[in-house]
Formats: sequence, C-alpha cells, structure tokens
Amino acid sequence: MSENVIVMGATSGIGTALCHELARRGCSLVVAGRNQEELDRLAVDLRLRYQTHVEAERFEALNFAEHAACFDRSVARFSDGVQGVIVCFGDLAPEQETHASLELTRRIIDVNFTAAASMLAIAANYLEPRKAGYLAAISSVAGDRGRQSNYTYGAAKAGLSAYLAGLRNRLQPAGVHVLTIKPGFVDTAMTEGLVNPNSPLVAKPERVARDIDRAIRSRRDVLYTPWFWRPIMLIIRSIPERVFKRLKL
Ligand SMILES: NC(=O)c1ccc[n+]([C@@H]2O[C@H](COP(=O)([O-])OP(=O)(O)OC[C@H]3O[C@@H](n4cnc5c(N)ncnc54)[C@H](OP(=O)(O)O)[C@@H]3O)[C@@H](O)[C@H]2O)c1
Repeated sequence: MSENVIVMGATSGIGTALCHELARRGCSLVVAGRNQEELDRLAVDLRLRYQTHVEAERFEALNFAEHAACFDRSVARFSDGVQGVIVCFGDLAPEQETHASLELTRRIIDVNFTAAASMLAIAANYLEPRKAGYLAAISSVAGDRGRQSNYTYGAAKAGLSAYLAGLRNRLQPAGVHVLTIKPGFVDTAMTEGLVNPNSPLVAKPERVARDIDRAIRSRRDVLYTPWFWRPIMLIIRSIPERVFKRLKL
C-alpha cells in the first residue's frame, strides 16, 4: 500500500523540499496551503517528476472554523485513508514590530501554535482509532529558550513542542508516531535578509527535508536539524538565567 500524506504549509521552503523527498519515495500527497496558484504549480511539478498522486487543497491557518472541513476534504482525496500528517506552516515577524502590535503578537501565536495545535488535534483524533500512522510538525530551536530577538515566535514554538510531547505520550499506546522537528537557521523566505545564507550555521531546506524524511522513517521522537543544533541548544539551555538575561541574543 502506498503511503498517503497530508502536508500542511506545503508551499513553505522546507515544506516544498519535504514534498519532493516524500514524492520521490512514492508517497501520495495532499499539498495544503493558502496560495492556490503556488499549490497547483507544486502539485503539477511533483506529479510530472515522480509519477505519483498529488492533490492541492486550500488551507488558511487563521480560519479556525474551516480546519476540520479542510482535513476531511484532504482525507477524502484518498480511497485508502491517510497515514501521515505533517505541519509545516509558520509565521515570523521582527520582534520589534511584534512588541508594538498586539494584533501581530496574536497572529504569530495563532499561526505557529494555535492553528498548528488545532490541525494536530484533528489529525490525532483521526489516526488514534486507526492505530497506525504518524504526525510531524516543524517547531524550532527558538522554542528551547526565550531570547529578546524572537521570544513571541519562540514562545509559540515552545508551546508547539510541549503540545507534540503530550500528543506523543497520548498516542504511544495506539502506535501512532509523533515527531517534533526543531530546525536551526534554514535558508528560506522566512529568514531572507535575517541570516547570511552562506554561513555554515544556515542549512539548505533540502538538507533539512532529508533529515525530516529519515526521522519519520526511523520513528524518531525529536529531531534537531542539522544535528549540531542539539549540542548548541544544550549549551544555550544550560546558561544560568542570571547570566542569560544580560546577553544580547
Ligand atoms: N527558516 C528557518 O530558519 C526556520 C527555523 C526553524 C523553524 N522553521 C519553521 O519551519 C516551517 C517552514 O518555514 P520555512 O522556513 O520553510 O519558511 P517559509 O518558506 O516562509 O514558509 C512559511 C509557510 O507558512 C505559510 N503560512 C504563513 N501564514 C499562514 C497562514 N495564515 N495560513 C496558511 N499558511 C500560512 C506560508 O504560506 P505562503 O506560502 O502562502 O506564504 C509558507 O508556506 C515554519 O513552521 C517555520 O516556523 C523555520
């Protein structure tokens, strides 16, 4: 049986690279996102390159009332159900702008945490009684410790990481695998102008996508990608708060 996967936020830099990895190994996909034109282009490209079944589905993270219907429509695209659901959408704004706007603060938290938790909850309720399959979501190393430069985004990702840990604990008896993905800096639209894409600390989305696909297949719980972010974040987390609060990070 081929693996049927829903990728939410498929037009993201990392999401698109991941769709290529999944389609290359024969997965059938629903690529979901808010940009219909981009989705259609991606679906055609994947179908042509990998001769696999790919459908596009509209998804707006902030339209909570539509989440369940979007999930149901995505599942209905396959005659033999869905085995994997991957949440890739996210939103980042400069922290200075977020300070100044409660509306922006709410958007960052709603897209990165509330909407992700909502879709994961719907997907978990679908997979749990089927006693198989997996959930994966892209959190961030930013969620491992609050820093002045991105603590609103970081707080939302910390919430998402905790939510995924809880889901993993709940779904373990059902045999449903839950993967928390924590990338460091990745060269995508989200970080354009914020990081130097040539820095050795900045990864290409294709590399991150390969790590994610491998982690799904090996049923890892938590993936730091690239791998060196695990020791880096271990050090960052171990700095005492009385020292950390004085750092310009
Ligand atoms: N890049 C990094 O350094 C980095 C590091 C750690 C974690 N991450 C996480 O990795 C994931 C993928 O991000 P990326 O780096 O690939 O950046 P990206 O290309 O900017 O992707 C962000 C995606 O989120 C979608 N999105 C934003 N708001 C949305 C909304 N209201 N409804 C539906 N979709 C919405 C965007 O849709 P459109 O395509 O329509 O704009 C886009 O596809 C995100 O969760 C991000 O937080 C990124």
